[in-house]
Amino acid sequence: MVSTAVTIAKSPYLQEDPGAGIFRVHRSVYRDPSIFDAERERIWGRAWLYLGHASEVPEPGDFKLRTIGGRELVFLRDVHGRVRAFLNACPHRGTAVCREPAGNAKRLRCFYHAWTFDTEGRLVSLPSPEAYPVGDAFRERLGLRPVARLEVLHDFVFISYATSGPDLDSYLGEAADYIGLVADHSDTGMRVVPGEQRYSSRANWKLGVENAMDGYHFAPSHVTFLEYLKRTGFTTSEGGRGRILSNGHVLGIQSGHSGRAGFDWEPRFGEAERSRIEENRARLFARMDAERAALIADYSRTLFMFPNLLLFDIEGVSIRLLEPVEPGLTRISAFALAPRDEPPEALDVRLKVLTSFIGPGGLATPDDLEAQEGIQRAIASTATDPRPGVDWNDVSRGMASEAAGEPLRSIDEGRVRAFWRHWATMMEEPEE
Ligand code: FES
Repeated sequence: MVSTAVTIAKSPYLQEDPGAGIFRVHRSVYRDPSIFDAERERIWGRAWLYLGHASEVPEPGDFKLRTIGGRELVFLRDVHGRVRAFLNACPHRGTAVCREPAGNAKRLRCFYHAWTFDTEGRLVSLPSPEAYPVGDAFRERLGLRPVARLEVLHDFVFISYATSGPDLDSYLGEAADYIGLVADHSDTGMRVVPGEQRYSSRANWKLGVENAMDGYHFAPSHVTFLEYLKRTGFTTSEGGRGRILSNGHVLGIQSGHSGRAGFDWEPRFGEAERSRIEENRARLFARMDAERAALIADYSRTLFMFPNLLLFDIEGVSIRLLEPVEPGLTRISAFALAPRDEPPEALDVRLKVLTSFIGPGGLATPDDLEAQEGIQRAIASTATDPRPGVDWNDVSRGMASEAAGEPLRSIDEGRVRAFWRHWATMMEEPEE
């Protein structure tokens, strides 16, 4: 515990004094295993969490293994077409029932003693059943354990490990509208393009969130990417805005630049794409009112849904899923979203645009990882420094304009502060 903090944000790990322009985060939150464990319970055990996109398991029996909030899950579509998620732990003696990362199966058979489950999680067979009082109650009691709650919004699948708490609608609030805008990119629906970019950051998961919500670093950190954009005909942005939504969700909005693959042609997409993009744009405006169509075509957004989903409605549309592994290790999975009916040539452009930025081979993500891993190394070195102020990070940029009620600029740190305030609320809230 940190004993010196003034805690307007109601956490011993945050110091907030708007009058003095102070907002600081104690660095122990990035490295302390006991805080990491408390987060597992208080945040990951209680919040709604993004699990995946329904298009990732399109056919009955399709499944994927995915670790969310420290628990390995089987994410599947049952034989009746319903999306489900079960703990990947056999109800018999606990080993992993599913050992393939993805596949299709009408039955899930545990290799250890061959108990077998259907896609709805029911125990359907076991060797030598005469030794058990096999009946409905037995099968019910020893079926696969589903997550406590699962809801689907525009094919985005969310789960909660808590049996009570707000429903998904209330939890997401306005964030749901921005997920809806992504779903509305296409009248045929959006799908996750098969494949995934999976990489790790030797840094705390919250540094990944901070980075995505921090427009301040963009110009100094991503010089190479910005030069590439300029060389390939990118029109400079007018600057972005931030919005604070409910429950720790935050949004960045960019306008006044080109670069929407799909709706707004620019030279780097190639001359061949110009007419297709213009057609897409016309279709969009014909399908919905002009205000909503303009929101989709002329503005780009980055949504953070607390605590594990980053939805990049920019350039090529993508999803980033954050999974904390240890205090200083985070696994990231990135997925491309595209209209279901997008022709291969357009999809090719979309994926090139996307991978030029994100992922370990992109021009920008390695810069972000370098910064985050540098922070993680540095905070180890300040842990034992007794001087006041040394072991704190400053997150105060733009506090005065925030206090004056001015619109948030994306180069300020207002969205990062909003994340921290909600983090503190969840960490300090009593157990129900
Ligand atoms: S642990 Fe799965 S059948 Fe025994």
